Amino acid sequence: MRIPKRLKAIAELIPRGSRLLDVGTDNALLPVWLILHGIINTAIAADISPKCIARAVETARVHCVPEQVRCVVSDGIKAIDGDVFDVAVIAGMGGESIRDILEASPDKIRGKLLILQPQTKQIELLDFLRSSGFDILSERVVCERGRTYLIQTVKLPQ
Ligand SMILES: C[S@@+](CC[C@H](N)C(=O)[O-])C[C@H]1O[C@@H](n2cnc3c(N)ncnc32)[C@H](O)[C@@H]1O
Repeated sequence: MRIPKRLKAIAELIPRGSRLLDVGTDNALLPVWLILHGIINTAIAADISPKCIARAVETARVHCVPEQVRCVVSDGIKAIDGDVFDVAVIAGMGGESIRDILEASPDKIRGKLLILQPQTKQIELLDFLRSSGFDILSERVVCERGRTYLIQTVKLPQ
């Protein structure tokens, strides 16, 4: 299974054995790749689109890890309990959507490692993170096919 360089750079930031929530998972490439490489044992793959969740279920099935990926239709983190994940990835969507998702569920993300990769409005998201008390732990830029991607790890203190 091959994943884009951008997703590989995100995968490198996931602590071994963590309980991952992938918000906006689309076809669950990232969680399935992490499980196949033995980096994590289980993951929740969440997406607002039922069609994407059907694709996520299919990816997990095709790669023989259906028991390890829980696929959930959810607007952001709204349908997910806060105590079932300790790392959340929100990647490949606009900075304003990432902001809205974080703003809607502050208690569920407090103290957790968040890996963010906004496609657009990176500065606006950074302003929001700074003004809302998030610690910016790391920032990395990845170039792929003529595009530049910013990947941040952040945490909202307990
Ligand atoms: C371009 S895909 C990114 C897929 C994958 N995360 C990646 O980085 O390659 C964006 C996904 O975010 C989902 N999405 C958009 N808004 C969302 C929200 N509020 N909650 C959950 N998923 C959302 C879309 O349905 C879509 O599947």
